[in-house]
Amino acid sequence: MKISFLTLFPEVIEPYIAASIPGRARQKGLADISVHNIRDWTQDKHGRVDDYPFGGGAGMVMTPQPLFDSIDAVRAQMPAGTRVVCPSPGGVPFDNRLARELAALPGLLLVCGHYEGIDQRVIDHRVDIEISIGDYVLTGGELPALIVMDAVLRFIPGVVGNECVHDEESFERGLLEYPQYTRPAVFRGIPVPEVLLSGHHAHIAAWQRRQSLIRTASVRPDLIKGAQLTQAEREEIASARDESTAE
Ligand code: ADE
Repeated sequence: MKISFLTLFPEVIEPYIAASIPGRARQKGLADISVHNIRDWTQDKHGRVDDYPFGGGAGMVMTPQPLFDSIDAVRAQMPAGTRVVCPSPGGVPFDNRLARELAALPGLLLVCGHYEGIDQRVIDHRVDIEISIGDYVLTGGELPALIVMDAVLRFIPGVVGNECVHDEESFERGLLEYPQYTRPAVFRGIPVPEVLLSGHHAHIAAWQRRQSLIRTASVRPDLIKGAQLTQAEREEIASARDESTAE
């Protein structure tokens, strides 16, 4: 897969893509990742890439010319079927399902906005999808674009071994992960749950499932509705909820 970033701050993106999982994915040839500076395309004689908003209001808006030209130039180097993605707090919510869909594409062009936003004509005529990583506003699109890339890379076979398949199943069941432990079995007097040392696979699986349920019901009750649960599990959660509201 080819992933390209368009940004005014390549120095923010570059260290991350050189390190850890993205770095490994590049080395293994699983992802071809490049970073381009939008400012390189500006035709403004002072190198400006932003201007005051029509209609007034606070902040500056990124002008269309450098964005149209940089998107067109970088897009031309990318495979057919590449999607242009723009992180924005007004975009569709990002989740694992969308990450997996994007991972099936031949290319992603991530366009990082800055200042108060970008001229809407860029969105209307060059961007395929606006994506929000959550209900808060960041100062720019670099961190969200890196988050999108990171989540997408995990779905590319070979990037993180087979752990990804496991995660995906877990999210598809709509539950949060159960807690994990490693050696030593007792650390500073704190033991790991005994069942995990039992070697009894069915008991361990049942314990893990229950932990996932308890955690999801407590931290993300909104996920329970769409999760694949047995009738007994639904009843158990309902009665735990009734008990806690009765207290
Ligand atoms: N840019 C600024 N805030 C953002 C958010 N929450 N998600 C995606 N892009 C953003």
